Amino acid sequence: MSAGRKSRTGKTVRSVKLPLPGRENRSYQIQIGAGAIEKIGNWLRRAAPKSSSRFAVIIADERLVDARAALLASLTSAGWTTHEIPVAAGEGLKNFETIYPLYGDLIKKKAGRDAVLFALGGGSVGDAAGFIAATYLRGIRWVGVPTTLLAQVDSSVGGKTGINHPLGKNLIGAFHQPTLVVCDTDFLLTLSQREMVSGFGETVKYGLIYDPEFYDWLEQNADDFLGRNSDALVHAIERSLAWKAKAVSRDELDRKGVREALNFGHTFGHALEAITEYGTYQHGEAVLWGMRFALALSRVRGHLKTSEFLRAERFLSTLPVPPLPTQLGQARYYEKMIDKMFNDKKVRDGKIHFVLLKKLGKTVSDSEVKRKDIDAAYHLMTSELELAP
Ligand SMILES: NC(=O)c1ccc[n+]([C@@H]2O[C@H](COP(=O)([O-])OP(=O)(O)OC[C@H]3O[C@@H](n4cnc5c(N)ncnc54)[C@H](O)[C@@H]3O)[C@@H](O)[C@H]2O)c1
Ligand SMILES: [Zn+2]
Repeated sequence: MSAGRKSRTGKTVRSVKLPLPGRENRSYQIQIGAGAIEKIGNWLRRAAPKSSSRFAVIIADERLVDARAALLASLTSAGWTTHEIPVAAGEGLKNFETIYPLYGDLIKKKAGRDAVLFALGGGSVGDAAGFIAATYLRGIRWVGVPTTLLAQVDSSVGGKTGINHPLGKNLIGAFHQPTLVVCDTDFLLTLSQREMVSGFGETVKYGLIYDPEFYDWLEQNADDFLGRNSDALVHAIERSLAWKAKAVSRDELDRKGVREALNFGHTFGHALEAITEYGTYQHGEAVLWGMRFALALSRVRGHLKTSEFLRAERFLSTLPVPPLPTQLGQARYYEKMIDKMFNDKKVRDGKIHFVLLKKLGKTVSDSEVKRKDIDAAYHLMTSELELAP
């Protein structure tokens, strides 16, 4: 699935292939390495073999001055004509009013069907720019250049693009796979520690749901990873994306349930984000709480051994994330939170469906979760953990 080689600067670049069966020409590569952006021209040759079609429009997070300069320099030296559209990143970008004028910019710049859109930034830029690429001229090619850890281990791969609606997040969108994704781990050097921990949440998720050996490695190497040792970053991003690529390639449109495991921890996580009005937690921080809840629920439902539950709970609880809202101690607020969880899910006969863990690295689908199980899991997660292993 992946291969390593030295880049011009002597640093290893790893690559993960995302095969899309039956329609081979849409398969794409994800390149991961420190300084990888310098080589983007080489990887783009397949996307634009004729020099006349090397027309790039870059939608870039305006704050990323150095990354923007690096991408522009790399594309220019590879013979690309470049136009840059700097944007303010964040949820405000994933909005119809904000992106509408960007289509005008593309038209005015005479971007034709051969043009390639580049998304330089975190998940908000990738989601919005990918959606513009999916809809402009009924779809043009796009390249992801993710600059946050969350975007590098998760959101830039898989083709889910979209924007928000006042009635809910990510309600408007399209599946539109990129042509290439380049994860330059040097971009992560300027990221806040909070963003690192948030992205680490999604990284640990892959270990918990698919890969016990990777989970062990993450426990052993969390300090190196969060300290941004580039070998540790490259290894963990490659391993995470290899798993994500496998799930996406088996279930591109998220219809067969294969991608469901990737939502581990997200029912509680989404409810926590919603009840705090998206103002308290980064996405991955909410998912870290959500995974602690899902681990507790896995124990309560009798799927996961106490020793494995305690091991994962102890590790996750060492990561610095904002505490749960104190109002959750009040019955009314707690009930509101439970309502949000039930809203997120299909509920049948008062039973709710969850992806839980059977053991570290293996999920189980459980459609029989009852309200009393949820209360017991919440209690277990928030009480002093004194269970015998
Ligand atoms: N499409 C998917 O499959 C998918 C999956 C998960 C999340 N998402 C979406 O991703 C978004 C969240 O992603 P995000 O946290 O990357 O958001 P983001 O783009 O808002 O970035 C977070 C912050 O980091 C800053 N930033 C970006 N790169 C930086 C760098 N290299 N150095 C310093 N600061 C930098 C940004 O300016 C911003 O302030 C949400 O909108 C979510 O819905 C999408
Ligand atoms: Zn997530």
